[in-house]
Amino acid sequence: MSGPHKNKPATTVVSAGRRSEWLGVPGAKGSVVNPPVWRASTHLFEDCNDLAGGRPNRQGHFFYGRRGGPTQWALGDALTALEPGAYATELFPSGVAALSVAMLAVLRPGDEVLVTDNAYEPTIGIAASMLSQFGVTMRRFDPLDLDEFAATIAPNTKAVMLESPGSLTMEVCDIPALTAIARDHGAISIIDNTWATALGFPALERGCDISVMSLTKHVGGHSDLMMGSISAGEELMGKVRQMAQFLGQVVSPDDAALALRGLRTLAVRLDRSTHSAAAIAQWLRTRDEIAQVLCPIIPGGPGHDLWSRDFTGGCGLFAFVLDTDKQGRARFIDALEHFGIGYSWGGYESLAVPFAAKRDHPHHTWPKCADGQDMVGVRVSIGLEDTDDLIRDLERGFSAMRDT
Ligand SMILES: Cc1ncc(COP(=O)(O)O)c(C=O)c1O
Repeated sequence: MSGPHKNKPATTVVSAGRRSEWLGVPGAKGSVVNPPVWRASTHLFEDCNDLAGGRPNRQGHFFYGRRGGPTQWALGDALTALEPGAYATELFPSGVAALSVAMLAVLRPGDEVLVTDNAYEPTIGIAASMLSQFGVTMRRFDPLDLDEFAATIAPNTKAVMLESPGSLTMEVCDIPALTAIARDHGAISIIDNTWATALGFPALERGCDISVMSLTKHVGGHSDLMMGSISAGEELMGKVRQMAQFLGQVVSPDDAALALRGLRTLAVRLDRSTHSAAAIAQWLRTRDEIAQVLCPIIPGGPGHDLWSRDFTGGCGLFAFVLDTDKQGRARFIDALEHFGIGYSWGGYESLAVPFAAKRDHPHHTWPKCADGQDMVGVRVSIGLEDTDDLIRDLERGFSAMRDT
């Protein structure tokens, strides 16, 4: 590309990672649009000289299957191109594997990691259980209280785990401010950026040092693969790669090809599900059956001001609190025809799952629940179905919920 103009992300998702050496000469006989699936454990070297020149840590340089091949490199390249400030991207067999390696790469015995209260549950588990075996301690913090965070951070705090919005309760936090505090104290900020992806939240530009995604969600986009990624600047990427190699982390070229296919339509899918989710969330807000809608992308929704300030896009994942008890919620969910019941999210199909957050959760005064206990929450992932059909389905759910 010539001149100073930078392509917009919707163009980059289509063009990135399509190096001619992996596709054939453009326009020539034999060139293809997508990098082929290179299934290879053994990469052959031309001669001993070539073997001696092998660079195990360098992308785009054949060495051995665990270091990947063109199919994986094409996906890594494309994700790097989408994340402003990233030097490279490493792929992992799941989002959880990526989260584990991100923490292991930067923490040493005696260090502490601070984990946001609204983090994905396994993130807390990795920090609390797995890292404690290596002499790393963990504390939680309220991501909405900057003063408390600044007071909490200790000399041995070496990493801070962030997530915004929280993937169940949807709090949006002030990432530029939190990461500035962390940086002042010499701590590395790691964000789980699965909700927004780099298209909706350029994490490194907003102050994070390491951006982690579960590609299982939006990038895969079709509910048929598990994968994770880590993107970062050059120095941290060196540590991440070394840890990934110690732990033998590798993704198959078949899965990488699937993820690349998903990536090509990421911008259009996110755009569509964001619009649909906003319409549905606005509609839910008008319903008597709803106690609270937890959706930062709609004006007046919790976290909307920060979301508008810092994010460049959204997605179809949000939550709401029903004004009923757990049985009523089960009737509501069971009556839905277009929403599958299942974990994960970010696929082309809509999903709904029940969830509970304790009423003593520090960041919300949850509305009074019918059973006086935990909030009666539902998390939905809005897919690509027609918005009106989804609203009709939710209406069906509300009728079943009212039928006792
Ligand atoms: C916010 C978030 N981060 C990470 C993960 C883990 O991803 P994976 O299932 O690919 O391990 C999930 C999975 O649900 C998630 O919701």
